[in-house]
Amino acid sequence: MTTTDDSSTAAGEPAVSEAQRSIEERLTEEVVASFAGASDARLRAVLESLTRHLHAFIRDVRLTEDEWNRAIEFLTATGHITDDNRQEFILLSDVLGASMQTIAVNNEAYRDATEATVFGPFFVADAPHVSNGGDIAGGAPGQPCWVEGTVRDTDGSPVPGARIEVWEADEDGFYDVQYSDDRVAGRGHLFAESDGSFRFWCLTPTPYPIPHDGPVGRLLEAAGRSPVRAAHLHFMVTAEGLRTLVTHIFVDGDPQLALGDSVFGVKDSLVKRFDEQTADTPTPDGRDLGGRTWTRARFDIVLAPDDTAA
Ligand code: BEZ
Ligand code: FE
Repeated sequence: MTTTDDSSTAAGEPAVSEAQRSIEERLTEEVVASFAGASDARLRAVLESLTRHLHAFIRDVRLTEDEWNRAIEFLTATGHITDDNRQEFILLSDVLGASMQTIAVNNEAYRDATEATVFGPFFVADAPHVSNGGDIAGGAPGQPCWVEGTVRDTDGSPVPGARIEVWEADEDGFYDVQYSDDRVAGRGHLFAESDGSFRFWCLTPTPYPIPHDGPVGRLLEAAGRSPVRAAHLHFMVTAEGLRTLVTHIFVDGDPQLALGDSVFGVKDSLVKRFDEQTADTPTPDGRDLGGRTWTRARFDIVLAPDDTAA
């Protein structure tokens, strides 16, 4: 947030009088003091900081009562559209960069550990198990893609049995939970082998818009921002004693990378080559793709020790 000096606010308004300033500051201190009795020290610290930042923001922009009412209406609409399948508050956190900032704070860089990125609202627990070499597409439309790699720790040792959750949108930009039926597609989990290796078939990721028919979409539109995410494949990797990694890989050459990712999730280290293969290129496992072209990508995952979380 822009800080103000004594002569003007962020909105370019003239500074308030000394008397007005002291009224505003007294209120902030009064609210901060109201939390002093919270027995949980962490809760007390969070509420105090929240109060100070919220009040500073209101004073900084000289928020009007109409604007505050509109903000309440916006949050109310965000709540109303949220249900078991639609999490508008996650979308809001994502487009404000709050999700990525929380990830940055909690996943400090550790040696060559793979970087984390946004979780998003489309993970589903208990996705089907696929064996190494299996297909997580589940019949969803899209170009076949072969992904292989390893899971290692930061000492370079393989992590046998690491659980790898993978999920993605189809070529039309939809996750299975957005289909009108109960099909499970574009998701699955597998386990790293004794040498840490894994491999599976999926779909070549394509750019798609985050749901934008609700309040968050209206916010983006008012701000002249696109809802489109750069093409990506989601991963969550878990293993005993190691920091859980939630991340994606992005597609090198995707024009959306230059246009921007609507939720600020791109990190250079996560951009990978998805090499195009002609229809007559033999597949790694001999699978017959029925004359279709395909792509292949490599993702070598490095997990940090779990005591390195911030
Ligand atoms: C996703 O990549 O699935 C996603 C992330 C943030 C908001 C919406 C979707
Ligand atoms: Fe996604």
